[in-house]
Amino acid sequence: MNNKKQYIMAIDHGTTSTRAILFDHDCRIAGIAQKEGGVDYPHPGWVEQDAVSIWLDTLAVMAGVLNKAGIDPDQVAAIGISNQRETSVLWDKKTGLPIYKAIVWQSRQTADICDEWKKQGLEDMVREKTGLRIDPYFSASKIAWMLEHVPGAREKAENGELMFGTMDSWIVWKLTGQERHITDATNASRTLLCDIENLKWDDELLKAFNIPRSILPDIVPTSSNYGTTAPYHFFGTRVPICSMVGDQQAALFGQLCVEKGMAKNTYGTGGFLLMNTGNDIVRSQNGLLSTIAWQIGDKVTYALEGSIFVSGSVMKWMRDELELFENVGETAKMAERAQTTAGVYIIPAFVGLGAPYWDDRAKAAIVGLSLGTNHDQLVRAALESMAYQAKDVLDAMERDSGVKITRLKVDGGAAANDFLLQFQSDLCQIPVERFQVNELTALGAAFLAGLAIGFWSEDDLNIEVERTFQAQCDEAEMEARFENWHRAVDTCKAFKP
Ligand code: G3P
Repeated sequence: MNNKKQYIMAIDHGTTSTRAILFDHDCRIAGIAQKEGGVDYPHPGWVEQDAVSIWLDTLAVMAGVLNKAGIDPDQVAAIGISNQRETSVLWDKKTGLPIYKAIVWQSRQTADICDEWKKQGLEDMVREKTGLRIDPYFSASKIAWMLEHVPGAREKAENGELMFGTMDSWIVWKLTGQERHITDATNASRTLLCDIENLKWDDELLKAFNIPRSILPDIVPTSSNYGTTAPYHFFGTRVPICSMVGDQQAALFGQLCVEKGMAKNTYGTGGFLLMNTGNDIVRSQNGLLSTIAWQIGDKVTYALEGSIFVSGSVMKWMRDELELFENVGETAKMAERAQTTAGVYIIPAFVGLGAPYWDDRAKAAIVGLSLGTNHDQLVRAALESMAYQAKDVLDAMERDSGVKITRLKVDGGAAANDFLLQFQSDLCQIPVERFQVNELTALGAAFLAGLAIGFWSEDDLNIEVERTFQAQCDEAEMEARFENWHRAVDTCKAFKP
């Protein structure tokens, strides 16, 4: 520690971008650097990324943020990492090079493996131990796919020459100079290999999925001092790495949903509603997941989660593939200008449907088109689809938890869209709150790292509401639209070419 002002650096690696953000002691942003990463779609439904590029982007944004903010590396008191979850990579222990692309959480390329596991009757055991369901979303089938399809992979794994990691493990292994092969409890809980009651890799699951234990990282708490950066990866400086946390759990912590019953909604690449369920594992009857919210010391907090596979990425698709606009910042205006979708519904099941439907072969659809349908109406329908999906999950969460959600706290890139938040409030008939710092995923990772080294005490953590959106529309009208949304979802579920 020196006398210069100190900061916490959060590395927020999401599906579409990697960011480094510096937070000062007042929980304010002192600097931010970002790189949009590449995503490959080699076949319909497949989603892959280059893990080496992710690492290089991480290095670039760490350098970028220090440079922009004019802050020295030794002013970073600790680093916290939040990451897109489930995305899996296998790498060679000796060379440090991945043996295949990282298979992204959205990818459906392992649907056949999952079908096979379901046929073997593994579903109940998986649900009981992991709180999840058998679905290509989670890491296990991605690992099994690579072991099966990459030449020599199985043999190398059996010989102890391969390492597996979600993006937290990959980044920390690199950042520590290949010293630490670890993952935190939140990320472990998304692999389909971890027993969430005792936070251990489960031998019965590993055997059923034919995955060798030797490739797995050690499971560590979400907030702790894991070791330092290797100086050659952090500008000549050793900085402690003090949190690793799945991005959705990070946002839950960043929104200070630290009491049982508190919930948040994040509009990222996907959409994720999480509710803190305290020390209890709440088993869903309505298509949600039970997952680990965080482990601090020995104390484990659980969450109920509704995962929506495509939320913000429908806007990316409209921008990049349909070229309906150049910048997502334009879309709120376009939606307002449309006034209504004129009966158009978009069901963004580009990679199947997640919570609460869980249909891994559903295909995306646009229904209700007429010859007068225009760009603005399509954009509006896409934004509305994000809100409809969130309401589906919110309703399921209320049924499962018995807790009425009376305010919705939102964050993520699309939370900047006023139209979306107003529509969400109208649809759910509850106030929707947006915060002054919208980088709540990064802030959550920073909080968890800062707490581990005493940079902050719990009382120091604070966030302020920037704007509250109040319902303005007639409830009956919104209910009718929500019914139409369900009819549209049924149409897309029925279409199995
Ligand atoms: O479970 C996937 C999730 O962690 C991805 O988050 O922020 O990339 O949508 P994001």
